[in-house]
Amino acid sequence: MKDKLIQKFGELYGKDGDIRVYFAPGRVNLIGEHTDYNGGHVFPCALTLGTYVVARKRADRLLRLFSVNFSHLGVTESSLDELYYHKKFGWTNYPKGVLWTFDKKGYPVTNGFDILLYGNIPNGSGLSSSASVEVAIAVMLKDMYGFDMSMTDIALFCQYSENKFNGVNCGIMDQFSIAMGKKDNAIFLDTSNLDYEYAPLDMKGYKIVIASSNKKRGLGDSKYNERRSECDRSLEELKTLLNISTLGELSNEAFEETKEIIKDPVRLRRVRHAVTENQRTIRAVKALKEGDLAKFGRLMNQSHISLRDDYEVTGPELDTLVEAAWQQEGVIGSRMTGAGFGGCTVSIVKEECVEAFIENVGSIYRRRVGYGADFYVVDIGDGARRLQ
Ligand code: GLA
Repeated sequence: MKDKLIQKFGELYGKDGDIRVYFAPGRVNLIGEHTDYNGGHVFPCALTLGTYVVARKRADRLLRLFSVNFSHLGVTESSLDELYYHKKFGWTNYPKGVLWTFDKKGYPVTNGFDILLYGNIPNGSGLSSSASVEVAIAVMLKDMYGFDMSMTDIALFCQYSENKFNGVNCGIMDQFSIAMGKKDNAIFLDTSNLDYEYAPLDMKGYKIVIASSNKKRGLGDSKYNERRSECDRSLEELKTLLNISTLGELSNEAFEETKEIIKDPVRLRRVRHAVTENQRTIRAVKALKEGDLAKFGRLMNQSHISLRDDYEVTGPELDTLVEAAWQQEGVIGSRMTGAGFGGCTVSIVKEECVEAFIENVGSIYRRRVGYGADFYVVDIGDGARRLQ
């Protein structure tokens, strides 16, 4: 892969100079959905699928960008002096946002770049292809300029870029897991203080299967920001009774005792999801550590139900995939993953049942939804890094 991309880079921009290659994974979240902007816990892991960046520093301030995935767009040119968001700039808004952020955060990017990208994460699938691009570019900048910064800084900068440049009010989960991923481990992250712990995923003859609904979603256009403000507003109400600064500080019991203060029934359900999902995540990680994969799976299923009924971010496509998965032999748990509103589901499936799972869920989905789903049996990989 690497060599082919370097060759393509040479054809586009010439072979000379200091050409370097970087990789940042995509991520799948096992449990803890829509908790990261509520100060709760998440449990994502990095994939071996991801984004490759081939780059060379330029002497001037020109920025040349090319994506193998959008090759019909050709090389787009801009300059470090005109970094601003525009919808028409499409995918190039992600690298531009990161360059803009580094400058804003006091890490001056003085020279432009020739950049080629290639990603094998299905686009818009909810496996964080955009965060993967951001973190790959950030790791490239850190390395090219020798900036002194931690991988946590990188995650925070990329989140800042997504929030302030691209206008999506996302939490820290995607950028953090992509920057910090570890092969065969998931990351148990407390988003209130960024304390984290790696948890080995001892899958004992089970596989992680991702099903992409092929229903595209754009976070910016979706109801993501709306959910976030529903939670923020409810938190303000709860604060009139409780001394808390995030919903993640609430136990299920404390929520039950104080919930009357939230007058709006829709927002009440939103908060119930945020609170119970956080508690479920803590319990799920405990179950996993105790080797109780079956309990972990049951908590995944409950997570989906809560996202469907209380948080209302699933929709018919994801519900069809998950409900079909629940009926299959050898399935320990299945739920939507990521922001929702389309995108992917994640299921834990007994190895010898994977083939039948894909076949059966695939045909139920096609019959009910009218088009096909795509399936990926994934491996858990390392976080973002330089390859060459
Ligand atoms: C998106 C966001 C994350 C997180 C998830 C939902 O992936 O980027 O920050 O909020 O949705 O859990």
